[in-house]
Amino acid sequence: MSAPDSRSQYHQPVLVAEVVEWLAPRAGQIFVDGTLGGGGHAAALLAAGAEVIGLDQDREAIAEATARLAAAGRQFRAVRTNFAEVDTALDALGIAQIDGALLDLGVSSHQLDEPTRGFSFQTSGPLDMRMDDRLPRTAADLVNSLGGAELERIFFTYGEEPAARRITARLVRDRLTRPFTTTDQLAAAVESVVPRHGRAHPATRVFQALRMAVNGELEALELGLERFAARLAPGGRLGVITFHSIEDRVVKHCFKRRSTPMLDRPEWPEARPNPDCIFRLLTRKALTAGADELQANPRARSAKLRVVERNPGHGR
Ligand SMILES: C[S@@+](CC[C@H](N)C(=O)[O-])C[C@H]1O[C@@H](n2cnc3c(N)ncnc32)[C@H](O)[C@@H]1O
Repeated sequence: MSAPDSRSQYHQPVLVAEVVEWLAPRAGQIFVDGTLGGGGHAAALLAAGAEVIGLDQDREAIAEATARLAAAGRQFRAVRTNFAEVDTALDALGIAQIDGALLDLGVSSHQLDEPTRGFSFQTSGPLDMRMDDRLPRTAADLVNSLGGAELERIFFTYGEEPAARRITARLVRDRLTRPFTTTDQLAAAVESVVPRHGRAHPATRVFQALRMAVNGELEALELGLERFAARLAPGGRLGVITFHSIEDRVVKHCFKRRSTPMLDRPEWPEARPNPDCIFRLLTRKALTAGADELQANPRARSAKLRVVERNPGHGR
């Protein structure tokens, strides 16, 4: 495929040069892009000569990327699925092992900007937040039906929201008289408890937390990391781009645990080999966007890329 044009109305990908440099795709290799979105990263992997299997659970992303990357022909295939189900997707394609994989977590600009998807507190839309419209529960379902303790746990663990308890009390009281149905209704209720400070909207953390709960994001990430790791050929690379500390922590810990050759504990007479060590950590510190990219794409501000390589000796 010809050189990629990573600009897209649908989504502007982050850290594209870094992804290509550190995943080092080339002709003859098979890569999985587990979060296809608008196909920006996939286009770059294809342009480097790799074959790409693109996964996304969002119907609109699959349609967008399939149209955009049609010129790649058989070099590109798209599958609508959660990346935690990568095994089923690869088995159906008859692919046992892959040479590289990318996860670019979270939501696309299109998902955020499209009011009907319900991800944004900036516009009024139905309180939905499902990336996959086959999922059974919307954000409104959670806000209106979960018990207070569970809602508070979601805001606290997935949003690190310090005012989780007060916000929950407000929502539980308000929903008795008027169930929550729209994004702006929820944003206003949160803002009535947590006044504006600085640049971030007070509902930012609550929206992030609900999105993560609706889509089971941390569970998919934990499962996905293990399943992608198991599919990598020796020397194969896995890159993950995160956008907030909660998901970055999961990736960082998994990569550390899986790349530490020896384990030691005070009670052991000597260090022991780590049976879980299957990776070499390529990025000791996460890679972040440079000044030019930050200026062109403010969304790159919080992006962190971490990359590991599968050790030799874990045969096909
Ligand atoms: C940040 S965007 C990816 C953008 C893409 N790299 C590009 O260049 O356009 C994240 C995409 O991943 C999808 N996604 C998030 N979590 C997913 C999961 N667990 N399984 C499948 N797709 C997921 C979202 O639907 C969204 O389209």
